[in-house]
Amino acid sequence: MRALVVCESMFGNTMKIAEEVARGLGGTMPAEVVEVGAAPAVLPADVGLLVVGGPTHAFGMSRPGTRKSALEQAPEGLVSKGGGVREWLNALHVNRPTAAAAFDTRIRAGLFAGSAAKAVHKALRRHRMILIAPPENFYVTATKGPLEETEAARAFDWGRSLAETASTL
Ligand SMILES: Cc1cc2nc3c(=O)[nH]c(=O)nc-3n(C[C@H](O)[C@H](O)[C@H](O)COP(=O)(O)O)c2cc1C
Repeated sequence: MRALVVCESMFGNTMKIAEEVARGLGGTMPAEVVEVGAAPAVLPADVGLLVVGGPTHAFGMSRPGTRKSALEQAPEGLVSKGGGVREWLNALHVNRPTAAAAFDTRIRAGLFAGSAAKAVHKALRRHRMILIAPPENFYVTATKGPLEETEAARAFDWGRSLAETASTL
């Protein structure tokens, strides 16, 4: 069995988390990170664990308008230039129940709240996936990052524990 980590990222922070999660998974099973724009429309049959993550925008998953707003803040360009995890999950075909987990990046407190991971988790459940962990949040220090300094290590550990859980199913 292999793991697929599908990631949306505007400024690169969620992509860094995805790469650490994949490194953590990689101790137990082959794991690959795919940017959401390049992710398959049909979940490949050999994927035994799907992990999906994106940045929290306006309390949930990004939308075209929030991605436009991110682009205005990133003259150097964005990592994810097309659709987001919302659109990908809406169009995804899953042929059999598969282990899955959701994560996001977000700002810890202040005016902002909400969680893209919670919304991704619900979308995965609608696809009848087997949710093996609660939605997980990783924190950035500001809109464009960087990540809080503990978060890369926490993402690695989270990936390792997901793989251990998935391999016992
Ligand atoms: C348009 C926009 C809306 C945002 N809304 C929220 C929000 O509601 N809650 C929150 O915690 N962070 C919010 N953020 C901060 C993002 O979560 C942060 O930019 C993201 O975690 C960075 O990850 P990335 O580099 O992978 O894009 C928002 C950012 C943008 C650009």
